[in-house]
Amino acid sequence: MKNYKIYNADCQVAIKKLPDNSVDCIITDPPYFIDGMGDDWNDEKLNKSASKGTVIGGLPVGMKFDRKQGENLQKFLEPLCGEFMRVLKPGGFCVVFSQGRLYHRTAIALDLAGFEVRDLLGWRYEGQAKAFSQNHFILKNKNMTEDEKQALIAELEGWKTPQLKPQIEPMVLAQKPREGTFVENYQKWGVGLVNTKETLDGMFPGTVMEVSKKTRANDFDEKIEHMTVKPVELISHLVRLLTREGQTVLDPFMGSGSHGVAALVNSRKFIGIEIEKKYFNISKKRLEGASK
Ligand SMILES: C[S@@+](CC[C@H](N)C(=O)[O-])C[C@H]1O[C@@H](n2cnc3c(N)ncnc32)[C@H](O)[C@@H]1O
Repeated sequence: MKNYKIYNADCQVAIKKLPDNSVDCIITDPPYFIDGMGDDWNDEKLNKSASKGTVIGGLPVGMKFDRKQGENLQKFLEPLCGEFMRVLKPGGFCVVFSQGRLYHRTAIALDLAGFEVRDLLGWRYEGQAKAFSQNHFILKNKNMTEDEKQALIAELEGWKTPQLKPQIEPMVLAQKPREGTFVENYQKWGVGLVNTKETLDGMFPGTVMEVSKKTRANDFDEKIEHMTVKPVELISHLVRLLTREGQTVLDPFMGSGSHGVAALVNSRKFIGIEIEKKYFNISKKRLEGASK
């Protein structure tokens, strides 16, 4: 029997078909709601922008600040978090990836749905500096003399747009409220405790998880054609930390299927949903490979 089920669908619709209290854990990486990665995630548009040196609308990816982005993310997540509450077993964990600027909106959506927000987790990786110098704007300024321009450029040596080198991707660790004590809940539902024998670095498992971005494609011979592939090593760690063998992991924003591969290679079951046919097909192929 197949140990996974995947759907090429809108998760807001497809998740409604999953029974109450049927999923042991959710590990998911929703659209970021920055710069074209919203609920209208458009692969073609994004690839075009990315090929122009990761600049979207004249700004580097992730730079554009717009209050609506957070509001839209929260609005998008709120009904979904209600569904996460319904399908998870009591005591079940829900890990939702986010990014520094909009993390709070993700946490609020989970909180409002009734989850206990347990912790802030961070994936630590080697990031690339993206801050921009303002010299070209100064040089284009028609109201300044050449001397004034050169003086300001000298004064602003090293001072750039407010974007430090990204090195941490945050995740919300939320838990559906337990029934009774931790032990009573575990005896009834099999979830709610954390496997402290699981380790990435030989130490007691911590909230900051250091995994190289470079391992992203290594589980697979071909290049994975998705812009935000998560390393299987990172998701495997989360899977082993929060679930036991045979339990079911759900990812309603499956993308290229890394969370599914992590579930299967760790002898868990998997349910995945992905709206874009192209990504769904990539996931399908990877999951077939992982379940052999
Ligand atoms: C950040 S990516 C997930 C990447 C994934 N973690 C991986 O390792 O490949 C988010 C994915 O959600 C998909 N998506 C966006 N809206 C969706 C929806 N309403 N239902 C299902 N999938 C959706 C996008 O097409 C995209 O592939």
